[in-house]
Amino acid sequence: MKFEGRDIVSIRDFSRDEIEYIMDTTRLMEPLTKRGSTMLQGRTLATLFFEPSTRTRMSFESAMQKLGGNCISIAEARTSSLEKGESLADTVRTVENYADLLVIRHPLDGSARMAAEIASVPVINAGSGAEEHPTQALLDLYTIQREVGRIDGLNIAFIGDLRYGRTVHSLAYALALYDTTIHFISPESLRVRGEVIDEVGQKVKITESRELNDVLSRIDVLYVTRIQKERIPDPEEYEKVKGIYRITTDTLRNAKSNMIVMHPLPRVDEIAPEVDMTPNAKYFKQMWYGLVTRMALLALCFGAVE
Ligand code: NCD
Repeated sequence: MKFEGRDIVSIRDFSRDEIEYIMDTTRLMEPLTKRGSTMLQGRTLATLFFEPSTRTRMSFESAMQKLGGNCISIAEARTSSLEKGESLADTVRTVENYADLLVIRHPLDGSARMAAEIASVPVINAGSGAEEHPTQALLDLYTIQREVGRIDGLNIAFIGDLRYGRTVHSLAYALALYDTTIHFISPESLRVRGEVIDEVGQKVKITESRELNDVLSRIDVLYVTRIQKERIPDPEEYEKVKGIYRITTDTLRNAKSNMIVMHPLPRVDEIAPEVDMTPNAKYFKQMWYGLVTRMALLALCFGAVE
């Protein structure tokens, strides 16, 4: 399977076979987190982040360094001129002179696609507005595969901000390639977008509800998300929905004993800290799976493994 030179803009550009190939490669990366490798020696990665990030940017940079490569970075707060698209284009034209691969996070939907069209080097989307976050979907799938042992046959529930949650959109598209049942739980104003429902609903069974209790006893994977204050246009609307869901050890008592709890992080108050110590909590392990997934993606895009 050929990945060298390929962009990663949308999870929808990948087949199930390709995703499984990425996960097999990810498994091979696990021992290298300690041992390191020189497979990307002499290669430079640029991370261009026009929105805040801790995990995504640092895990890409760590992944690159563990494989022997170098990193350069823009990690600045967004400014209004960057949001207009024109200056992103100029930034891409600049940075492609200095780096062999670009990882971009930008507040506009479509930004990563635009950057990929302009750049002569591969572009990886690290979050494009509220639209997509494909590498998060890959690390989420890998987490499910490693922690549950399979993806087919599972009931997966998304809870929280499903309208603006790009991680939700990308993971739902990916899960639709498997034999899964997907439950969307949100308040009315944060319901998952129609286009996601349409596409995912054609491939797998989906349900929508406001209450977690409607489906809790059936769920194998509970994917919790933050209510994204910064993306909700109306502050009054945010006031109505903030703190609406909170996962506690009581929630776990009413769930399957082996249900896993995931979260792309950062969390605010949607998972009580008491859940952290339970065997169900996988959101900290998920970050490590993110590192190895990104090692695999870099190795594949650079053509260092085939
Ligand atoms: C998420 C994001 O930025 O989309 N975080 C992440 O990349 N792990 C989710 C969020 O910001 O709530």
